[in-house]
Amino acid sequence: MGWYKSLVLPIVRWIDAETAHGLAIWALKNNLVPRDDDATDATPSLETEVFGRKFANPVGLAAGFDKNGEVPNQALSHGFGFVEIGSVTPLPQPGNPKPRLFRLYSDRAVINRMGFNNDGAEAVAARLRKRARRGILGANLGKNKYSEDAADDYVKGVKALGPYADYLVVNVSSPNTPGLRALQGRAPLEKLLKSVLKARDSFAKGVPVLLKVAPDLTDEDKSDIASVVLKVKIDGMIVSNTTIDRPVGLNSYDQDEKGGLSGPPLMEPSTKVLADFYRLTEGKVPLIGVGGIASGKDAYEKILNGASLVQLYSSLVYHGLELVTDIKEDLARRLRKDGFANVADAVGAAFPEISGKNIPVDEARDAKAALEAKTDTKSDDKDD
Ligand SMILES: Cc1cc2nc3c(=O)[nH]c(=O)nc-3n(C[C@H](O)[C@H](O)[C@H](O)COP(=O)(O)O)c2cc1C
Repeated sequence: MGWYKSLVLPIVRWIDAETAHGLAIWALKNNLVPRDDDATDATPSLETEVFGRKFANPVGLAAGFDKNGEVPNQALSHGFGFVEIGSVTPLPQPGNPKPRLFRLYSDRAVINRMGFNNDGAEAVAARLRKRARRGILGANLGKNKYSEDAADDYVKGVKALGPYADYLVVNVSSPNTPGLRALQGRAPLEKLLKSVLKARDSFAKGVPVLLKVAPDLTDEDKSDIASVVLKVKIDGMIVSNTTIDRPVGLNSYDQDEKGGLSGPPLMEPSTKVLADFYRLTEGKVPLIGVGGIASGKDAYEKILNGASLVQLYSSLVYHGLELVTDIKEDLARRLRKDGFANVADAVGAAFPEISGKNIPVDEARDAKAALEAKTDTKSDDKDD
């Protein structure tokens, strides 16, 4: 057992979740978090190029951990291949009343209803301006709670943060800002994305724009989103945000708290949505798979199901940053074992009819079959 699980977690679990998060940011800022010596060692099979950017490895830190861009370089130095800061809104805002972050210990999961608490675009831009630029940094954009013109908020975000970002994210999928997810509808989404891309071309030329979606989408929602993404030429998608669903089988006291659920219970539903988008976009749009990753096996499953890159957040709460090195080592081992020369070779291998990739082993088929079997059982359950 590593130092985090043996020393830190037993103490941290008695501290309220948001205070513990604040301590983690503070410790990272002050370089107090022990680092694996080999955290940033290069592994050629993990190096990958996606939407014109070169990644040292495909494992990223998901949005929400470093909302204010305080510790991107420290996170990179712990071995992440990229870091996504935010969500950042144009104006600073306090978010929802506390408590608003809950650890579901028995499920190794998290529920949050933070509500985009952040320092605002100007303060975050000032921080990023001073940052020594290295590695890949994504800036995730949101809208202010009381703003009436959503498109204008995202345009302001592009203008303020675009110059400091290697990619930008339009987040229309957090469940904790009233009305936000309605922006995923076909007509509002097309209008919004066109405005954002226009702003990108004026203020952040060449910076890829990605769309982050919820896992709680109907089939119609998904095909509408995919057709808009292809039509307006969005550079990539992030699948997915937290879920408002509460999968059967949760065991924790706080499971009925309002907000978005993340961590292992989200792995299967978010991977299913990822695979759906891979199919709907015919593998033409790079996808970042996020939701429930707690191991190299999970990361590999996302890649086989169409993810060019992956991200995680919640599992860090239970495993610490040591998990990043574990995931990368296991991922490299799995690629080697299955005869893939690198990550890109394995992307979408569960769907050879789209990816055109041969599946050298049964594992890709197993990943797909396991996903389908679980989905079938779930829909059977619902029929009962
Ligand atoms: C406390 C917390 C805050 C989050 N805040 C944001 C956010 O501001 N913007 C965003 O796009 N996603 C946010 N997320 C969602 C994560 O980026 C990620 O999509 C989700 O948690 C699923 O990944 P995981 O299961 O590895 O945590 C947040 C997640 C958590 C747990």
